[in-house]
Amino acid sequence: MSDMSSIAAIADIDARLSAGYTFPARWYWDPRIHRLELDAIWASWWHYACGTDMVPFVRRNGEFVFEVTAGESGPVATCNGQPAAAEVWQGLVFVNADASARSFRETYPALIRLTADHPYDREGCERTPDSPAVPIAANWKIWVENSSECYHCPTIHQHSFSDIYDVAHGVYRYIDDGPVLCQLTEPTPGSERFGQAKQEYRYWYLFPSTFLQIDDYYVSASLVYPTGPESCVSTGESWLRPDAPAEGAAAFDEMWSMTAAEDVAAVAIQQPSMRCGLVPHGRLMPSSESAIAHFHRLCFEALRPHLA
Ligand SMILES: [Fe+2]
Repeated sequence: MSDMSSIAAIADIDARLSAGYTFPARWYWDPRIHRLELDAIWASWWHYACGTDMVPFVRRNGEFVFEVTAGESGPVATCNGQPAAAEVWQGLVFVNADASARSFRETYPALIRLTADHPYDREGCERTPDSPAVPIAANWKIWVENSSECYHCPTIHQHSFSDIYDVAHGVYRYIDDGPVLCQLTEPTPGSERFGQAKQEYRYWYLFPSTFLQIDDYYVSASLVYPTGPESCVSTGESWLRPDAPAEGAAAFDEMWSMTAAEDVAAVAIQQPSMRCGLVPHGRLMPSSESAIAHFHRLCFEALRPHLA
C-alpha cells in the first residue's frame, strides 16, 4: 500500500514511538488511517459483545454488526451475516469477525493471570437497566488514551473518581502486559457526597475495544468503536454485584456519570488540536504515560504489516 507508506513514514514513526513520542497528529483524523484501522485491527481482533444473560443479542460495532445466538455448546456469532468467532469468559461473550482467529484466551493470557489475583467475577450479578450509548467527538484512540492513564484524574476528576479512589503516584498501579492494560487502586477515606468505597478498584482494557471494570457495586463491560475518523461511541452494560452494599449505589452512579461526562468533554477538547498542525507529534511523560506508549505500540504493530 504505497499510498499509506508515504503518509505513514513507517521507520520514522517506529523510532519516534520508541523515543517516547505519540503517533503523528494526522493519525487522529486521516480517513485513510481510519479505514486501515477498521480493516487491519477491527476485523481481526476480539470485541466484547454482550453478557451471556443477554443472548440472543445484536451488537453494533461501527460497520461490524455482530449477531450472537445460542448454539448447542454455547453462543455462536455472525458478523455482517458471515460466520464469526465467539467465546465466553466470565459470563461475557466476546466476538471476532475473523472466524479462524486465535482464541480469546490465547490472545489475552495476561487477563487470565491478572484476574487470578484481582478477580473479575460476574457470578450472581444482576443486570442493571440499559444506559444509552455515548457519542464521543474524538478519534477512538484519544478515548483509549484518556482511559489508559490517570494522571488527569487529580484535576479533571477531582470531585468525582478521585474523591473516592486514591490516584496518587505510587498507589495507583498500571500493569501493561501484551494487549491487556490493567489499572488497580485503593479507596480513599471517602467523601460526604459519594460515601466510602471498601474494595480495590480494578480495570482492564483489552486491545482494541473492550473495557472491564469492577468496584464495590458493579461489574461492567463496555466497548468503544469508531464511527468515523474523528468520532467514536462508548457503550456497554453493568451488573449489580450480589455482595454490593445495601445503600449507596445511587451515589456511585452519580460519581461514575460525572467521571464519564468529564472524560467525554476532555477528549472533545483534544480532538480539534490534532488538526491544527502546531504539534505534529505529542511527547509522553515516561513515568505516568507508559500505558499510552504501550497502547501506541500495540496499534502500530497491528498496522505495520499493512503500512509497507
Ligand atoms: Fe478520565
